[in-house]
Amino acid sequence: MKVLVTGGAGFLGSHVSEFYRTKGWEVLAYDNLTKFELNRTGHNPEKIREYNQKFLNKIGAQLVEADIRDYQKLLAAARSCDYIIHTAAQPAMTIGIEDPDLDFTSNVVGTYNVLSVAKKLNIPVVNCCTIHVYGNGINDNLTEDPTRYLHTPVAISEDFPILTGKITPLHASKICGEHYVRMFIDTYGLKAASFRLTGLYGERQFGGEDHGWVANFTIRTVMNRPISLFNTGKQVRDILHAKDLCECFHAFYEQQIAGVYTVGGGPEHMISLIETLNYLGELNNNNKSEIKFAGERFGDLNYFVSDITKVRTNLKWQPKIKPKQGISYLYNWVRENRELFEKQQ
Ligand SMILES: NC(=O)c1ccc[n+]([C@@H]2O[C@H](COP(=O)([O-])OP(=O)(O)OC[C@H]3O[C@@H](n4cnc5c(N)ncnc54)[C@H](O)[C@@H]3O)[C@@H](O)[C@H]2O)c1
Repeated sequence: MKVLVTGGAGFLGSHVSEFYRTKGWEVLAYDNLTKFELNRTGHNPEKIREYNQKFLNKIGAQLVEADIRDYQKLLAAARSCDYIIHTAAQPAMTIGIEDPDLDFTSNVVGTYNVLSVAKKLNIPVVNCCTIHVYGNGINDNLTEDPTRYLHTPVAISEDFPILTGKITPLHASKICGEHYVRMFIDTYGLKAASFRLTGLYGERQFGGEDHGWVANFTIRTVMNRPISLFNTGKQVRDILHAKDLCECFHAFYEQQIAGVYTVGGGPEHMISLIETLNYLGELNNNNKSEIKFAGERFGDLNYFVSDITKVRTNLKWQPKIKPKQGISYLYNWVRENRELFEKQQ
């Protein structure tokens, strides 16, 4: 068996690659090794890309350096594969606002190409969408307690209205990619799913202020660097460890019940930014980073918790790694790899 992992050198793609190598599948990681986001993290992009490639090499995954916007190369790479997991994307709202062309070509054209290749070769495919498609209108209906924003209902399902509030390029491109998933399912019977993903985290996540906040906070705590908190820090997510998500990708391969799924940790995984920082402080012998409060960012979503009833029922999946346990895995990985985060000379 062989899986094509678009974005296979990235954070989530590296976990998917590891998961399938452990299962004995062949893995083809298809990635253009872009540094557009890494350049903004303050970490050393060259070191990180070298780390990504060594990791894929170590686990025995094959890396093809190519772009999802190149249909012919994508088709050639997918020919011998049994399954496609599409993680390659422009994933950050901030970058989408600054470069809507990059956002559109990566997330709409790239996703269309992936789906089109899957149809041509008749193989199942999962697309990584985002909970941002629900829209930041959710922010208008929040109350708060000392550490969290609160929302009724607590958990939000696939039936909840989408694109409420102000939309940014990322909202537009991610929902567009998802519409194409539905189109390929309805019109051509493609075995496809679009996972609306909550905040993901885990080892090998090189988070910065644009994307990957759990890793950003963890790296800054370990390296004793200041942390910017946009808004109050009471923002909530039902964070999901990447290893749990890999199980979910495989659950889709086994069940092949096509559709749109909201995939997160659910209410038991709720945690706010302030609560995450407090827990990281505990792990770090009470050495906390300096917090700098910054204003609210345009487009940001202040609350999301997934109702995972549909994914649990249809795909027979549920998350196993609780937030505190998963954050401690990430914290230990950052400590063991401090040299990756040293400032460039
Ligand atoms: N990390 C999260 O918290 C989160 C939350 C919701 C949704 N998602 C979605 O999950 C997916 C994976 O996110 P991630 O955090 O692993 O991101 P990542 O940036 O770590 O990885 C993405 C990978 O895709 C590659 N890539 C980008 N454009 C490409 C292109 N045109 N052709 C080929 N490769 C390309 C990059 O080089 C990178 O290695 C994305 O679709 C993202 O929108 C992530």
